[in-house]
Amino acid sequence: MANSTILVTGGAGYIGSHACKALAKAGFSPVVYDNLTTGFRESVLFGPLVEADIRDAEAFQQAMEKHKPAAIVHFAAKLAVGESVEQPEDYYDVNVRGAWNVIHNARNAGIPIVFSSTAAVYGIPETFPIAEDAPLAPINPYGHSKRMVEQMLADAAHAYNLRYASLRYFNACGADAEGQLGLRQTNPTHLIPVALEAILETRPPLQVFGTDYPTEDGTAVRDYIHVADLADAHVAALKYLLGGGECTVLNLGTGTGYSVKQVIDAIESGTGHNVPRQDHARRAGDPPALVAAVEKARNVLGWQATQSALPNIVATAWKWRQQLTSGAKAL
Ligand code: UFG
Repeated sequence: MANSTILVTGGAGYIGSHACKALAKAGFSPVVYDNLTTGFRESVLFGPLVEADIRDAEAFQQAMEKHKPAAIVHFAAKLAVGESVEQPEDYYDVNVRGAWNVIHNARNAGIPIVFSSTAAVYGIPETFPIAEDAPLAPINPYGHSKRMVEQMLADAAHAYNLRYASLRYFNACGADAEGQLGLRQTNPTHLIPVALEAILETRPPLQVFGTDYPTEDGTAVRDYIHVADLADAHVAALKYLLGGGECTVLNLGTGTGYSVKQVIDAIESGTGHNVPRQDHARRAGDPPALVAAVEKARNVLGWQATQSALPNIVATAWKWRQQLTSGAKAL
């Protein structure tokens, strides 16, 4: 490989750290750029860390000049939907201004970008499964900020021949099979970590948000994709762009939806514990079902999810969660 250095913004975070592991395995040299506000130094295991803010134009330019990457994988962003409604300024500041900095430097250096986007750009979709050309109609500032960055990338591609891949993640979950990496966030809000913490009694029972959805069992349906599959997709996207591939926008999901109840069942059989839980009203802004159309990613990248069976998601997440809380309470 001519130049194997890849600048990974947000590489100390959950998905970013798994991507660094996959990049290193594939022969790339990841350089993490992260201010550690939500990322963790302990998750930077596969190359150097530049500890700086994505909005800091000078620090970012210096990192670019020092490391001369062949591409940027841009994860650094704020990602909590509820928080984005309360604090929209922060979301536009970090997610949009931060991305501006990345795009500006990538186009000056003539290198491609792999961008972390989200299924939240679709809002409440009308078609299933959701294809990439479905209307974009985000329903919260988080989704809006990601959609704006997708537009900034498209405009930069048109004006400056910047090349990029926007990857729209569905529900990221699971942890590294070797137990090296996983979700370190305290007070997680996502279904699987919340359920596991409810088992461990490190938080109150899981609230099942909505049992009256127009789905088979009344609970909401999502497309759960293992973080290791997401990581592999980033490597594939990077190889695609470095090999001269055209700009592309791709869903990253499995194409199969599971209801909240089905996920709870898988957690109970995978862990051997009941998930303490209570039925609750719907959470504002939750669509009934989000399932990805996956053909485009398969056609463009030759990638598809291989590690996202629910039992594997549960087993890896459970192993990681127990490791994190080990010593806290014997079950
Ligand atoms: N859920 C519960 N109880 C909880 C947490 C979640 O019942 O304590 C339910 C939710 O209502 C939803 C499902 O579990 O039906 C999954 O919820 P998550 O919070 O785990 O994930 P979301 O589907 O809400 O969020 C994902 C991504 C976001 C993205 C969003 C787009 O994590 O980044 O999809 O809608 F913005």
